[in-house]
Amino acid sequence: MQQQLVFLVAIALLALVHVGTARDLRKVVEPKNPPTCTSLKATGGDDTKAIQKALDSCAKGKAVTLAAGVFYSGPLTIPSGVSLLLDTGVALRAIPKPALYDKGRRTCGTIDDSGDGCKSFITIKGAKGSGIYGTGTIDGEGGARINARNLTWFKLNKVASGRGRKTNSPMLIEISNSEDITLYKITLVRSPFYHVYTSETNGLTVWGITINSPTASVSSDGIFSAGSQNVTVSRCRINTKDDNIGISALTAPSRYISVYETHFGRGNGLAIGSRIIHGVSNVTFSNMTLNALSSGMRIKTNTLNGGVVANIVYENICVYRARFPIFLDMYYHGLTGDRKPEFKNIAFKNIQVGSAGQFIFRGVNENDPIKATINDMRITLNSTWSIANTQFSGNWVTNIGKAFSCKHFKF
Ligand SMILES: *[C@@H]1O[C@H](CO)[C@@H](O)[C@H](O)[C@H]1NC(C)=O
Ligand SMILES: *[C@@H]1O[C@H](CO)[C@@H](O)[C@H](O)[C@H]1NC(C)=O
Ligand SMILES: *[C@@H]1O[C@H](CO)[C@@H](O)[C@H](O)[C@H]1NC(C)=O
Ligand SMILES: *[C@@H]1O[C@H](CO)[C@@H](O)[C@H](O)[C@H]1NC(C)=O
Ligand SMILES: *[C@@H]1O[C@H](CO)[C@@H](O)[C@H](O)[C@H]1NC(C)=O
Repeated sequence: MQQQLVFLVAIALLALVHVGTARDLRKVVEPKNPPTCTSLKATGGDDTKAIQKALDSCAKGKAVTLAAGVFYSGPLTIPSGVSLLLDTGVALRAIPKPALYDKGRRTCGTIDDSGDGCKSFITIKGAKGSGIYGTGTIDGEGGARINARNLTWFKLNKVASGRGRKTNSPMLIEISNSEDITLYKITLVRSPFYHVYTSETNGLTVWGITINSPTASVSSDGIFSAGSQNVTVSRCRINTKDDNIGISALTAPSRYISVYETHFGRGNGLAIGSRIIHGVSNVTFSNMTLNALSSGMRIKTNTLNGGVVANIVYENICVYRARFPIFLDMYYHGLTGDRKPEFKNIAFKNIQVGSAGQFIFRGVNENDPIKATINDMRITLNSTWSIANTQFSGNWVTNIGKAFSCKHFKF
């Protein structure tokens, strides 16, 4: 009876809420592997030249297939229209030598205040219709020694972070100023820095990929989307340190983003921020499970880097073991400036939180509060709330009791 009631209420809510618009505006379907132009077998030595040559001479619409073995490579660039495909059982490993990635200032593999000394392992820049496909693994070798003193990329990041400085470590996959890019089914592990970083890209489909770096270091974000539009992340598993998914807007707006049917383990969860000067809007996170994280659903900024965050939907989300299941914060890192962050039309629907946590809403301005709606949220007894300058509407249950179940989240 109660089940039925909940069901009816859910239907009524769905009918009331117009959900269609806070998402990727494209019609996104499951990608298909492109046909092969050249097929390569690993030599066991440095295969950078062979892979790059094959990519450079591949016809648009086709893929260079890494067909067998363990490939060792330095930085690679995927040209416009061309893809890389890794067959099952194949590994592509980033050779852990900072000099290979150096941008010319001999700072890759060091700590400084810019952090811009390394090329990424795989770069897609100014491209249209490129991608990385297949069920093989791309391994950033973040835990391997990078010099005679046994330093590793992970250790370098840790030292930099401890000193409040920047690390010069390569990202695993960097996509910039591109259109219509696909990452499909690949597994990414041990990135020295962010696993996937995309900036000012319109049209990005990340489907069925696995990021698995539980022992990675700080700064090993899963997918970080900066100033990009029409982005879909679907059916992925992201288990890393730092943000599982990050969305920022430092140089351009971030909008029309859909993240669904995705599972997170570890990490800092779904993070919007912190540098959002150009605004983040029309984003939906749906049908997700978040397990063993520091934060679950987080929007973080401050008056130094703030902007408008609007029309964000979190729906059908199951959270377990998160210190901060929801954390909306305008005081991030205590930095201050003269910008006025705004969080408005932030909607939480059908959220279940199965373990006690801290719910924090910290707005900066009482005249312009955080505006959030909460509907059908069920949380655990003994959770704590800390609320400032926030206006809520909706309702929630604070004792989920035995009803907690992620069973209907089948992914
Ligand atoms: C962005 O989201 C808002 C609120 O849901 C909606 O009114 C608006 O139409 C959306 N924009 C587009 C282009 O869909
Ligand atoms: C987003 O996708 C829609 C629908 O395909 C398209 O009309 C729009 O131009 C795209 N936006 C950008 C910035 O590419
Ligand atoms: C680096 O590691 C190797 C193997 O574990 C060890 O033999 C060597 O002494 C180490 N070198 C330094 C400088 O710690
Ligand atoms: C989320 O799950 C519900 C129930 O299974 C399904 O109807 C809906 O299409 C899913 N939405 C997305 C965006 O996957
Ligand atoms: C809540 O706290 C009380 C008192 O500390 C404790 O007895 C109880 O088991 C807690 N309940 C849950 C669900 O954590």
